[in-house]
Amino acid sequence: MSTPSSSRNSWKVSASIVSKRTSNPIRAIVDHIKVKPNVNKSMISLALGDPTLFGNFKIHQTCTDAVAKQLHSYKSNGYPPSTGYLSARKAVADKFTLPEAPLTAQDVIITSGCSGALDMCIGVLCNEGDNILLPRPGFSLYQTLADSKGVEVRYYDLLPENNWEMDLKQLETLIDERTATVVMNNPSNPCGSVFRKQHLLDFLEVCDRHHLPVIADEIYCDLVFSGNEFFPLASLTKTVPVLSVGGLAKKYLVPGWRVGWIFIHDRQDIFAKEVREGLNSLSQLILGSNSLVQSSLEDILHNTDSSFYDDTRVQLEANAKLSTEILSKVPGLKVIVPQGAMYVMISINIAEFKDIDNDIIFTEKLLGEESVMCLPGSVFQCPNFIRIVFTSPPEVLKEAYERMAEFCARHHK
Ligand SMILES: Cc1ncc(COP(=O)(O)O)c(C=O)c1O
Repeated sequence: MSTPSSSRNSWKVSASIVSKRTSNPIRAIVDHIKVKPNVNKSMISLALGDPTLFGNFKIHQTCTDAVAKQLHSYKSNGYPPSTGYLSARKAVADKFTLPEAPLTAQDVIITSGCSGALDMCIGVLCNEGDNILLPRPGFSLYQTLADSKGVEVRYYDLLPENNWEMDLKQLETLIDERTATVVMNNPSNPCGSVFRKQHLLDFLEVCDRHHLPVIADEIYCDLVFSGNEFFPLASLTKTVPVLSVGGLAKKYLVPGWRVGWIFIHDRQDIFAKEVREGLNSLSQLILGSNSLVQSSLEDILHNTDSSFYDDTRVQLEANAKLSTEILSKVPGLKVIVPQGAMYVMISINIAEFKDIDNDIIFTEKLLGEESVMCLPGSVFQCPNFIRIVFTSPPEVLKEAYERMAEFCARHHK
């Protein structure tokens, strides 16, 4: 029997380097908030981008019936192919194909939520040591995924004074030989902004000139308010290769069902075989998403009455309007009017407050005094803003905003 080597004569188990460089910026900041909510006031959270929390956004019965049908069929209990059932990929392709950006089942990969899609897209395009361009402010998972993979993050700015459009001049200065891809998010979390067509064309012109492939996070797709229009990025270019990601979470109001997708838009065959094969390999890591939900996609996507989307949009738009109307009257706050999705970013004019030095202190004190929770902009790399999710019922929003107004009045100079 061999004797253990001298270096292995006691227990020493460490966590991996990858696990140590993986962290969630939201938790890193929010977990340090030690302030307890005011026990005399009911807790109102405007922090979570989950439309199911209050029961006011109801999913359509077609969706529940579709999943029940699959459950009772006993035919969707096995492992689906890692890139998704062919029928699910076809259902998605048929739903989202456009004359300007055609899709077949071969261009669609079904993933475990849109998060899974982002993980695979960043994973297939970036090597350790490469850099990736991310929006600031932006959805914090992009940074988490890049850090975890040893990819350097470079932020390009979104300009609040310009409806959060991308600062394309500054973005261009970040690009070098090792820039593997740029992530753009439209409509935006956390900004609630929707990009104009010309702005998207200008962005694509920069990507084209620098031969930069794009990851387009379009999970909120056409959840946009009157006067705005959603243009899928891939429909505006014949030359720039685009991996678009989306899923059921937001528009279909079922984030817990964990089904998302990747669309491979590559009309010049620049990704060619290699990137498709790479995505295929990465899909094998976790063998794809939930079988019951993917097998229901055909019914969900093709049989849900269009009035369901309109109702969701109308409700969201009314909440966005209410939020803008009330909060723009509060001294010290400035609302950047939302154009879509379920978020509004509010700028805090720190100089107007006597004892609030930054967005984190604002958030902490608001929680401690008024039991209202929202996220500080710092978690999205955007200090001195707060992000509000306006999916709560109107009466809850009104109550929260009244408390915020009283809070601001108390701390105003
Ligand atoms: C911009 C954006 N992308 C991706 C996701 C993740 O979606 P999923 O829940 O399908 O993983 C979210 C969720 O909040 C999001 O806001």
